[in-house]
Amino acid sequence: MKNKAVYIIKLGGSVISDKNKPFSFNYDVVYKLIEEIKKSNAYCIIIHGGGSFGHPVAKKFDIVNGINPEIENQILGFAETHKVMIELNLKIAEVFSKQQIPAISLQSSAIFYLNPDLEFYGLKRIENLLNLGVIPMLYGDIILDSTNNFTILSGDKIIYSICNSIKKAKETTISVKKVIFLTDQDGIFTMDNESEKILVENLSADEIPNLQLSKFDSKIDVTRSIKGKLEEIGQICKLGIKVQLVNGFKENYLTKSLKDEKIPSTTIFQKK
Ligand code: IPE
Repeated sequence: MKNKAVYIIKLGGSVISDKNKPFSFNYDVVYKLIEEIKKSNAYCIIIHGGGSFGHPVAKKFDIVNGINPEIENQILGFAETHKVMIELNLKIAEVFSKQQIPAISLQSSAIFYLNPDLEFYGLKRIENLLNLGVIPMLYGDIILDSTNNFTILSGDKIIYSICNSIKKAKETTISVKKVIFLTDQDGIFTMDNESEKILVENLSADEIPNLQLSKFDSKIDVTRSIKGKLEEIGQICKLGIKVQLVNGFKENYLTKSLKDEKIPSTTIFQKK
């Protein structure tokens, strides 16, 4: 019996940190977003990205491409990537705690494994936490695989995997109402010209491969480009789950998204 409709909210790295400034944490922005989550009273699962914590370290040691003996101190860098993600996660956990909201982190590298496909062992724990009135929190991390290698697991892949296991579960008490990606823009823009860029308000997942996107600035992102992120989002939509890209810097946009009120944003869905 499915009885809890949850929102999965991705706190994108470009919202929680300044991706151009290593180890910068946007405390005030995170505080406001968590305040909006609290006021909404909605069931939520929080996933956050690496931003200016995980990405620069992962990039320096090329963690995404796995073991490379030519990279000096790469294994130290592998451990460091994980450590800085824990540090970022703790900063967010502190904001939840400050506002007296129970939130508990599940360490992604302990509950995901590549074998060779992505395996996830956390659904029961997520359900237990939600049943206890706790917000489960996961984050982009390093991930191990069955060949004794490693790579980076993005928050976006985590979201797809959670959605997929909820859909496939024979017995679960949760369903996904919507996935909200908080980013530093109002959504997806088409056209290459800044002055002419147009916000795409509704997008069918089938249209993603042919989108002519507006230029995006080059920030450090080891996991993929916006095109890659959109492909991941397309996979989530194919499960029959609606995805909304929402500007995390604009006040009350998250509140409105949680109430399904109209805001400038991009909603992506699978055409029936
Ligand atoms: C990346 O996660 C995690 C690491 C670099 C360890 P994401 O790819 O989801 O992060 P953002 O949201 O783009 O920063």
